[in-house]
Amino acid sequence: MKRVDDFRLRLGNKEYVPIMIGGMGVDISTSELALEAARLGGIGHISDAMVQDVSDRKFDTTFVKDKTKLYKFNINNMDKAVVQFDLERLAEATRLHVGATMAAKKGDGLIFVNCMEKLTMNAPKETLRTRLSSALDAGIDGITMSAGLHLGSFELIKDHPRFREAKLGIIVSSVRALQLFLRKVAKLNRLPDFIIVEGPLAGGHLGFGFDWKNYDLHLIIDEILAYLRQENIDIPLIAAGGVFTGSDAVAFLEKGVAGVQVATRFTVTHECGMPESVKQEYFRASEEDIIVNGISPTGYPMRMLKSTPAIGSGIRPGCESYGYLLDATGNCAYINSYNREVLANPEMKNPPVMDKTCLCTHMRNYNCWTCGHYTYRLKDTTHKLADGNYQVLSAEHVFKDYQFSVDNQIALPERQESVAA
Ligand SMILES: Cc1cc2nc3c(=O)[nH]c(=O)nc-3n(C[C@H](O)[C@H](O)[C@H](O)COP(=O)(O)O)c2cc1C
Repeated sequence: MKRVDDFRLRLGNKEYVPIMIGGMGVDISTSELALEAARLGGIGHISDAMVQDVSDRKFDTTFVKDKTKLYKFNINNMDKAVVQFDLERLAEATRLHVGATMAAKKGDGLIFVNCMEKLTMNAPKETLRTRLSSALDAGIDGITMSAGLHLGSFELIKDHPRFREAKLGIIVSSVRALQLFLRKVAKLNRLPDFIIVEGPLAGGHLGFGFDWKNYDLHLIIDEILAYLRQENIDIPLIAAGGVFTGSDAVAFLEKGVAGVQVATRFTVTHECGMPESVKQEYFRASEEDIIVNGISPTGYPMRMLKSTPAIGSGIRPGCESYGYLLDATGNCAYINSYNREVLANPEMKNPPVMDKTCLCTHMRNYNCWTCGHYTYRLKDTTHKLADGNYQVLSAEHVFKDYQFSVDNQIALPERQESVAA
């Protein structure tokens, strides 16, 4: 019976343990989590979502405070189009976050940054170019381009000195999306170094509609493998979404996939950035608590716990401080919903807004509890302690469980009654 450790993920001329920990913004996949994956010989992701805020928390910079001060005059204005990112400051924050992570890296693995292209930041191309280039400047091993994949994203950095050396990959959820991207990059003579195929059971935003239940990751992978073979294209595929045990991973590796990307099981590790109380919410969740809804202003369905505070909270849009979801015209779907409710309920101070949420503010405050479909199984991966809380795990324990387990088993950690959850 095979284990994940019987396989290796080959990128260029190097081999890695075929386990990637997926990017989870905002700072849920912390540097500490990514560094553990790299130390153990796999691949970890940090995320550049809301990087100025992440930098402020980690390095005592004042990007958010300064931006809020600059745009304070607009806080009560319903129109947020005036709010812009200073590209030099955006680059500086990215270089700080990426640079500090890379400086701490040990071991044979790699660290990538997850760039969600749906963070359109009121100037989609310019901000994306800045984010990608400054991550490369700061020495990141590779970049995964995700959520809202922009067909022209490789083109934006084609003149960067590291364009052909750094590992560049994409996340797709269908053979069609992949075909469109490959057609677009053909003229650059620069194929992706890896392709993450994310199925409908993943956490975060989904690359599917509300009919996500009709899709199956194994079938999508089979289709993509057949397409790549037919076209004679050799790019490693990484399977993501619902890979919960080492045996789940082996089932993909045996059919020719080069690695797996996993995330949900790491949300309840010490290294994960979510507050301890939120980790306990994830542990406690039952299957009925996990929903897919349309409250993300990006327009993509998103999976989350139904008790998440972000649902229905009618907070004022925080664009003067954040503004990561402002589109090319300076608008965000939440602003429309919020303004509609405020105008319809002049007597109420904070009318609830049910159809959309202020994703920037809520993700920043760990109040949007996005999660993978199998979150309800997390309680089976640890011990329940005497105080009713669940024992939080180490990233090393979860990583090694994926790497070495067989027979769909999940290794429980050594019981630590004294651990405060
Ligand atoms: C809490 C959480 C946050 C996530 N955030 C992001 C994100 O910011 N960008 C992204 O591309 N994927 C995101 N994902 C998706 C993961 O990177 C990963 O591909 C997927 O969840 C793997 O499936 P699994 O969670 O079933 O292991 C997130 C997943 C979780 C659980």
